[in-house]
Amino acid sequence: MTTKGLTHNELALYPGSFDPFTFGHLDILERACRLFDHVEVTIAQNSSKTGFFSTEERKALIEACTGHLSNVSVHVFEGLLVHHASQRNATALVRGLRQVSDFDYEFRMAFANRRLAPEVETVFLMTGEAHALTSASLVREIHRHGGDISSFVPEPVRQAMAAR
Ligand code: PNS
Repeated sequence: MTTKGLTHNELALYPGSFDPFTFGHLDILERACRLFDHVEVTIAQNSSKTGFFSTEERKALIEACTGHLSNVSVHVFEGLLVHHASQRNATALVRGLRQVSDFDYEFRMAFANRRLAPEVETVFLMTGEAHALTSASLVREIHRHGGDISSFVPEPVRQAMAAR
């Protein structure tokens, strides 16, 4: 982004579990890509929790779903998000909001992150209406019961889940 001759390289992190990556995640990511020079999707590695996909599988799937976005890269991190953000010199953390009920958790996390790293700003982006009810846990549940997840997740994710 260039403003009055000054060049900023604004890096935003888009953190989450992404288990799996949904159309809702893609929607937020595409919005973030229009606002920041570069967006790093950062997958949180939680060693005490086994997910549906491993973090490496999630990384490969997100890469497969974001080939059309030239300013995106995908990374896995372990530990505190703000430590990772400072290490990467990121200026912002992007989080998606679907509905009011998301806000309580997001509000607490944003304040905690701000206390730990005041230089990193949390930016909330509203999801498109079509994705307001989409969540990774809902997708896993529909899949577990044999339902059709094709309207919730990009094709590479649908195929990978079907192969399980
Ligand atoms: O998609 P999610 O599960 O809502 O993502 C939550 C995530 C991964 C962003 C959050 O749990 C996280 O940042 N985990 C890493 C540990 C950390 O920094 N926690 C926040 C301290 S308030």
